Parts: sequence; C-alpha cells; structure tokens
Amino acid sequence: MQNQGNIIRYELEAHVFDWEIAPGKTIQAWGYNNQIPGPVLHANVGDTLIVTLKNNLPEPTTIHWHGLRIPAKMDGTEEVQGAVMPGESFEYQLEVKDAGTFWYHPHKNETVQMERGLYGAMVITAAEEPVFDEERILVFDDMKLDENLEFTKPSWWLPRWRERHDGRQGDVRLINGKQEPTLSMAAGQIERWRLVNAASARYLKFSLQGKSFQIIGTDGGLLEYPVDATEILITPGERVELAVGPFQEGEQFEIQSLPYKHGTTRKEKIESFATVNITDYQASKAAFPIRMRVIEPLATRDAQPTREVHLQVGPSLKNGINFMINKHQHLHDRPVKVGELQIWDIYNDMMMDHPFHLHGFFFQVLEINGKSPDYLAWKDTVNLPPLSKARIAWMPDDRTGMWMYHCHILEHIEAGMMAHFEVQA
Ligand code: C2O
Ligand code: CU
Repeated sequence: MQNQGNIIRYELEAHVFDWEIAPGKTIQAWGYNNQIPGPVLHANVGDTLIVTLKNNLPEPTTIHWHGLRIPAKMDGTEEVQGAVMPGESFEYQLEVKDAGTFWYHPHKNETVQMERGLYGAMVITAAEEPVFDEERILVFDDMKLDENLEFTKPSWWLPRWRERHDGRQGDVRLINGKQEPTLSMAAGQIERWRLVNAASARYLKFSLQGKSFQIIGTDGGLLEYPVDATEILITPGERVELAVGPFQEGEQFEIQSLPYKHGTTRKEKIESFATVNITDYQASKAAFPIRMRVIEPLATRDAQPTREVHLQVGPSLKNGINFMINKHQHLHDRPVKVGELQIWDIYNDMMMDHPFHLHGFFFQVLEINGKSPDYLAWKDTVNLPPLSKARIAWMPDDRTGMWMYHCHILEHIEAGMMAHFEVQA
C-alpha cells in the first residue's frame, strides 16, 4: 500500500505559561501550546507535515526535529536557519520517511528552553504496524527547581562548575509533564510503549521493578526481532519502544530509574517516575511477528575508519571546564560527500559518559570497545562510556547542507561539545 502523501498541518506556539506538574504545584514553564510536553505530532510515512512555529517567548528560538531525515534547511540549527525572533513565525515542511518515535525541541539556548519544557514527541506510522492493545507515549524529563519552584541557575562557582560538568539534573521527575503520576493498565493486555528521554542530562536506566518486557524498537524504528529485557539504559535524546505486559489484575509496580554511574558528582539511587496499577482483565488482541523488519548491515566491524571524533575536556579560566571535540569548542568539522560511506570512530577521552547524537541521518553501531552490539538497530544517538571507542557507519544521502553532531547533554552542547559539518554533492 503506497501512501499518497497527505499534508498535515500543525501549529506550535511557544509560550511562557503556568503549568501544574502535580496538584497544587504550579511552575512557570516554557512550552508549546500551553502544555508539557507539546502536542504529539502524528503522521504516516510519506506524509508532509507543515508545522508553523509561532514564537511568543521573550527570546529567539527554533525547532529541531530530532531523528527525522529532512532537508538540512529544515533542521532548525543556527547554521541553516536564522532564529525565529519573538513575535515571529516560521513554517517547517517535513516530509516524513521513516516510521518510529521521534521528538522535537529548540536548538537555541537549549539549557534554558528545553529544561523549562519546550519539547514534544512525534509518532510516524508505517502502512503495516504490529498490533498492540494500546499504545502509550511516555516522555521522561526531570526539572531542577528551587524551593519556590523556580528554575534558578547556581550562582556560586562550585555548583556552577558542577552543573556545567554533570549536566543539569533535578529531583522533580516527570512523565508527560506530570510529577510521578499514577498510570493504569488493564490486566492481560500487551501495550506498545514509546519512550523518549527529553531530560537535559539524566541517564534513565529504565526498569519496571524487575518485571520483564521486550525491546521492539530504538531511535530509527523497529528492530529485527524483539529482545527480552528487564532494564534498558535510555540516554538524553534516545528513544526506545517496548512491548509491555501482560500483567495480573491487582499488580502494582513503579517505573523506575536505576542507579547508573556515569562519572558525575551526583549520588545515584533508585528513583521513581510513576506508579502503574493493573486493573480489570481484558483479553489481548496483540499480534506482532517474530521478525518485525529486515535491517541490512551497512558495513562490517573491520571497515576502514574515515574519521576520528574525540570527545574531550579542557580547562577554562572563566568556567573551570570546557567541553570539546577534536580539541575545539563548537568545532567546524571536515565535510563529507554524498554517497561515500562514513565509518566514524568516536572516542570518549573522558571519565564520564556522553550520548553522541548525529543530526539528520541514522547510523549503525558496528562495535563499542571492540564488541558488536547485542542487536542491529538504526540509531541517531548512542552512549559512549568513559574511555571508550564506538565505530559507527552511516551513509550521506543527497541531502546536502550543514548538519551537526554533538553530545546530547545540554550543558555540554553549551560548553562546546558539538560540531557542524557539511554534506557536499
Ligand atoms: Cu535532539 Cu542537536 O539534538
Ligand atoms: Cu557530554
């Protein structure tokens, strides 16, 4: 079934507004259409989304469509688009090519705009999708609020250094804009959960208190086969799709983030994001094939690398610490050519983890520290543990123009761990 390609229009108005994260607990948030997250944008593969961004914020903004394979000029970064000034609008045209879970967020003053709530999910569906009883989108975030529920930045040197180094992590944990909500799910059902980590810096080691689930998709859509798991690490920027259930009537469990040491000064502990109550039984109609998709490998592990990318740290007189790529903050990296397979060795030269994100193109991880990943997947964000090396493969198609790659910890982008480069004809 070939989709004729509908045109779907959305309007996103970026505002400052009051948002209730929990009963009686209201913050002054920034968000799209007076809600956190912004509306879920739905489309089918082949459709064109026309999204008008209206900026009612007190400062310039843009929207980046994280994971979408769109033309460079729609990517929302400073190299391809003048920021949308307060009171102005911009129309994005996005022809969607891939089924999966994506998300959108500003690429301007990210540490403020995204922290305060400017982000939203996108669901792109294929003509044929596995059948589940229910589908849920769970967008994870945390906010760092002071005792007046305000987003203050630390003023003392050490806490400022810490936020720049660790990334901003808060104790207000949100799913879909609500603090530790209670969700209910019918017994006997199998649901498709689409998870997005929209937090500034939090490493979400997702768990359902030890209950098992199946991983069915990642950043770039479905996997080939479902993978059984009881936990999965979701770094800032990443998406994961799960098949969850069936459970028994009366069961109750938490959606938790387990401790994951990643080289920050923060004390890691088990933290709850939500409680799930299992209600009355309903028979399941879920049906998903054993083999969900074919993913052709782009290259083998011994492919010859075409580029080295080093994630590094350096001293800064003003801030104590800078984050760099190949010895530069805000690097302008060498161009790549359309049709030339890219094999990049990404080195993390530091003692902390970084989630590496490539704009506009999916890659395959060939190996991390000499070991193949557990399953083949299309990714746009991959975690690099301390002193590690990941070899990735990706193909620049004909979408020429300026693109980016960077660490998805927002404070690290700000501190320089990002690069622009050109895809040339
Ligand atoms: Cu969600 Cu440049 O990234
Ligand atoms: Cu980083």
